[in-house]
Amino acid sequence: MTEKKLGGAGLRGQVAGQTALCTVGTQGSGLNYRGYDVDDLADNCIFEEVAHLILKGKLPNQAELDAYQDKLMSLRELPDALKIGLELIPASAHPMDVMRTGVSLLGNLEQETDFSQQQDAVDRILALLPAIVVYWYRFANDGIRVSTATGAKTIGGHFLHMLHGEAPSELHERVMNVSLILYAEHEFNASTFNGRVAASTLTDIHSVITGAIGTLRGPLHGGANEAAMEMIEQWNSPDEAEAAILQKLANKELIMGFGHAVYKEKDPRNAIIKKWSEKLSKEVGDQILYAVSVRCEEVMKREKGMFCNADFFHASAYKFMGIPTGLFTPIFVMSRVTGWAAHAFEQRANNRIIRPSAEYTGPEHRKVPPISQRS
Ligand code: COA
Repeated sequence: MTEKKLGGAGLRGQVAGQTALCTVGTQGSGLNYRGYDVDDLADNCIFEEVAHLILKGKLPNQAELDAYQDKLMSLRELPDALKIGLELIPASAHPMDVMRTGVSLLGNLEQETDFSQQQDAVDRILALLPAIVVYWYRFANDGIRVSTATGAKTIGGHFLHMLHGEAPSELHERVMNVSLILYAEHEFNASTFNGRVAASTLTDIHSVITGAIGTLRGPLHGGANEAAMEMIEQWNSPDEAEAAILQKLANKELIMGFGHAVYKEKDPRNAIIKKWSEKLSKEVGDQILYAVSVRCEEVMKREKGMFCNADFFHASAYKFMGIPTGLFTPIFVMSRVTGWAAHAFEQRANNRIIRPSAEYTGPEHRKVPPISQRS
C-alpha cells in the first residue's frame, strides 16, 4: 500500500479539538501527560499509576494505587467464549488482528450499554489485553493454554510471565513499565483521532478501541517498531547496517523508526528507551543489535538530519527480553488503550459529531446519460 501525498494533506498542524490529557512538542522534554513530564513519570512510576493518571485524572496515592492494581488483577480471567474464539485464530494471523478481534468479541460478551459503565469496561479491556494476545500466541504456536493467574502485580510483569511461563526479572518488569508509560498517550495521533471520531458518534467503547487498534497496526504508526526490528535484524555489523541504510536512502525508501509528524528535533521517548535497551544489551551479552541500532541512528542524523522516534530502540529492547517481533505492536496497544479510552471519555463529555469537509476534485456537475450512450 502506498501513501498518496496531496498538497496540505494529513491535517498537519491543524487544531481538531481540545484535550486536557497531553501536550506533544510544546512543554518540558516534549511530552507531558496531564502536565507531568514523561521523563519524570518513567523514572518514578509504574504503568498503573500512569494509567490511573490518564484515565481518572490524578496520580494515585498508595491506597488508590493498591486498590486499582487489585481491581485490574481481579479482571484478568478470560471469558470461556473468548478463549474459544482465540483458539480458532490460526498461528499465521497477525497478533494485531488478534487484539482487534479479541476486543471486538469481548464487546459482544460484555456489552457497554450505558456510558456510566465506561470506566469498568475500560479497566476490563486494560486487564485482559495481555491475556488476549498471549493466550492466542501460546495456544496457536505451542498448543499451551496459559493460565492468566500469574500473581504479577503489574501489567508488564503479567504479560512477560504468561509469555515466558515464569516470573520476569526485576529489570525486565521495570523496562516493561517504562515502555508502557512511554506509549500510553500522544494527543491526536492517527489511532487516537480515529478513536475520537468513533466516540463522537456515541458508539460503544469496544468499537472505539477496535477501530483504534486497526489504525495503530499500520507501519507508519505503531507497526513501526515491528518494521524496525525486521530491518535491523538483517544486519550483522554496524558497517553492514550503514551500507544498507545508505542504499535505502539512495533508493528513497523510508527507514522505519525514524521521523515524526510532530516532533522536529527529537522524540523525547527515544533517549529513555535507548538507555534501557543499552542496559538490556549488556545483560544478554549482545554484541550486534544495539551497536547496529546506534549506527543507524548516527547515519540517519548525519545523512538526513533525522532522529529515532519512540519505536526504534523499543525494537531491540523488546528483542533482548525475548519478546517475539509480532508481539511488539500489541504491547503498544496494552498501553495506548489508556490514552484512547481517556480521549473517548473526553469526547463523550463534550461531544459534537466530528464531521470535517473535503475539497472536491472530481468532475463538474452533470446528468446521467442513457445507458446506450455510455462508453
Ligand atoms: N526515512 C526516510 N525518509 C523519511 C522518513 C524516514 N523514516 N520519514 C520522513 N522522511 C522523509 C519524507 O519522505 C519526506 O521527504 P520528501 O520531502 O522528499 O517527500 C521528508 O522526510 C519529510 O517528511 P515529514 O513531512 O517530516 O514526514 P510525515 O509527517 O509525512 O510522516 C512519519 C511522519 C512518522 C509517518 C514518517 O516520518 C515515517 O513514515 N516514518 C517511518 C515510520 C515510523 O517510524 N513511524 C512511527 C512514527 S512514531
